[in-house]
Amino acid sequence: MVVPESQEKIYHPPPDLQRDAHVPDFSSYLEMYKKSLENPEAFWKEVADEFFWKKPATGPMLQYNFDVTKGNIFVKCMEGAKTNMCYNVLDRHVKEGNLGEKVAYYWEGNSPEHHKTITYGQVLSHTCRCANVLKQLGVKKGDRVSIYLPMIPELVYTMLACARIGAVHSVVFAGFSSESLCERIMDAQSSVLVTADGVYRGDKLINLKQISDEALEKCREKGSSSVTKCLVIKHHVLRTKTGTSCNKLQTSWDSDRDVWWDEAMSDSSEECEPEWLDAEDPLFILYTSGSTGKPKGVVHTVAGYLLYTFLTFKCVFDHQPHDVYWCTADIGWITGHSYITYGPLANGASSVLFEGIPVHPHVGRFWEIIEKYRVTKFYTAPTAIRLLMKYGQEPLQKYDLSSLRILGSVGEPINPEAWQWYYEEVGQGRCPVVDTFWQTETGGHVLTPLPAATPLKPGSATFPFFGVEPTILNEHGEEVEGEAEGYLVFRKPWPGIMRTVYENHERFENIYFKKFPGFYVTGDGGRRDKDGYFWITGRIDDMLNVSGHLLSTAEVEAALTLHPDVSEAAVVSRPHKVKGECLYCFVTLKDRREFDKKMVEELKKMVREKIGPIATPDFIQNAPALPKTRSGKIMRRILRQVARNERDLGDLSTLSDPKVVEVLFSQRSEAAT
Ligand code: PRX
Repeated sequence: MVVPESQEKIYHPPPDLQRDAHVPDFSSYLEMYKKSLENPEAFWKEVADEFFWKKPATGPMLQYNFDVTKGNIFVKCMEGAKTNMCYNVLDRHVKEGNLGEKVAYYWEGNSPEHHKTITYGQVLSHTCRCANVLKQLGVKKGDRVSIYLPMIPELVYTMLACARIGAVHSVVFAGFSSESLCERIMDAQSSVLVTADGVYRGDKLINLKQISDEALEKCREKGSSSVTKCLVIKHHVLRTKTGTSCNKLQTSWDSDRDVWWDEAMSDSSEECEPEWLDAEDPLFILYTSGSTGKPKGVVHTVAGYLLYTFLTFKCVFDHQPHDVYWCTADIGWITGHSYITYGPLANGASSVLFEGIPVHPHVGRFWEIIEKYRVTKFYTAPTAIRLLMKYGQEPLQKYDLSSLRILGSVGEPINPEAWQWYYEEVGQGRCPVVDTFWQTETGGHVLTPLPAATPLKPGSATFPFFGVEPTILNEHGEEVEGEAEGYLVFRKPWPGIMRTVYENHERFENIYFKKFPGFYVTGDGGRRDKDGYFWITGRIDDMLNVSGHLLSTAEVEAALTLHPDVSEAAVVSRPHKVKGECLYCFVTLKDRREFDKKMVEELKKMVREKIGPIATPDFIQNAPALPKTRSGKIMRRILRQVARNERDLGDLSTLSDPKVVEVLFSQRSEAAT
């Protein structure tokens, strides 16, 4: 296999960024990395010294067992210490650090007319009130609270209120169906659900209260009535142009169960003593889909998650006091938990909190917001970059993006064409792109460049973060040295790694530790190049073996999207009589180009040239759109079934647009070439 040409060039950190950076050059990175592995005790102790501990730790900074053959898997950070997350990310700044007047969030609504600024002092006072409301509703330490909210400040207040009183929050992305919400409420056995009446996402009005009612009804039908109270934020009404009298939503009301947020908050005190928790008490549960079966409730704990989100945010975005940082993710996913709520607040940062979507009311919305708030650090997903690339340079050119200093990417491999566009057009060739590889399970970045230290190769997540020791294993679980491709695993924990699957420790051990005893298995394929850079080659389940050669679907997709007429591509495997498996490719073309035989030939040539003849696709099919979850992830299971013409599709409820599937089946015949 050859590295595509565009990945050969190395991009060095800009000197002006290096001057004041926390990790100013590559040798500093290497030195700190060495210390983090050789003396983790001293390394993490120094980080912990930034925070308030009601009681100091009695145990070491980290204890663990990663080997299933030697007993239960466990990770403990700062055993014996007592602290409170909410105190550390709010009170510490307001009371000890004089940041009470500093902006914590610039909230920007779905419509540009709706916006407000919220200071650290205000976040603290709303959070304390909310904490008292939750207590009033009967929530105690250790109880679970499900949160089904759009991107509004109350979402942050509710998470922090839970953290303050020791309740465990379980945020469910507000694009999930009532069925998914029900499943997550039931698994967590939450006693309270916090939701809103409704929200506009683009032009679409979503009746969140109705979905919540349906979810609670479904829980009841299934014999589970753990939720006794539902706290409802009057959001959509406040956002309608005509003011409070307009209510397009018929909000049904169960007066025994439902409580209006505003009413409860107005009677609530601003004083709330934090609950002092054990370092290893749970902070939250966040559900992530398993490749099969029901979602996993990933559990993160207080102290380790605090240290890790703090340090990754500080170093990966090189946080400086005057930054305006914007992460476009939804808090319903781990990216929002770690890098909108906890990491930025732990650092006393000012962030943009955006409710809307990239193309509403116009395709320049992201760029407009960057100009409006003079955003310095911007963090988004390749899928958003590819979407916006389709509209060309014009929307970008209307806005002043000169405030930008660092760009971040997360969630999926970034193909070289998207990387180039992000770097050259959005960052104007001035801003390093930090391609951060991590997972819900890892709590924070694990492979990532540091912007002032790491020379970049487009598409590579580069090197491990402090305390993280990655390696590559072959099929037999043997470590492979030097240039290699195989299973990406980690040899030891870092403070922010998940502790268990909620109420199912056995599942945790089976999924992540059973396959290769002694290692945490990411489920991703990884490649280490001759310079030691790590490249994510896609999920192992998306790896395919063509004539005995291991190929990554992501790699083929990157090659296809290098074609100037392709906006997106997804590749799956299809059984093949001679080769074992072969490549079946779905491509979405830009508007200007017709899908025809010539196009297919150009694409095959492209892949052959970029990777090698072994990767030549057997099938290339036109895909006017790809089947995606509401969070924008491509559902490969469905593509595999289209490729195999298997029409028994099972559950399609997580698809954002189920009609896409029929279109793909109808275009199948054109694919065989
Ligand atoms: O396959 C990897 C991909 O996303 C998976 C984790 O998904 P999730 O738990 O939803 O968390 C997403 C946000 C952290 C990983 O196993 N992934 C994430 N970041 C990258 C990535 N693949 C390649 N490059 C990345 N930077």
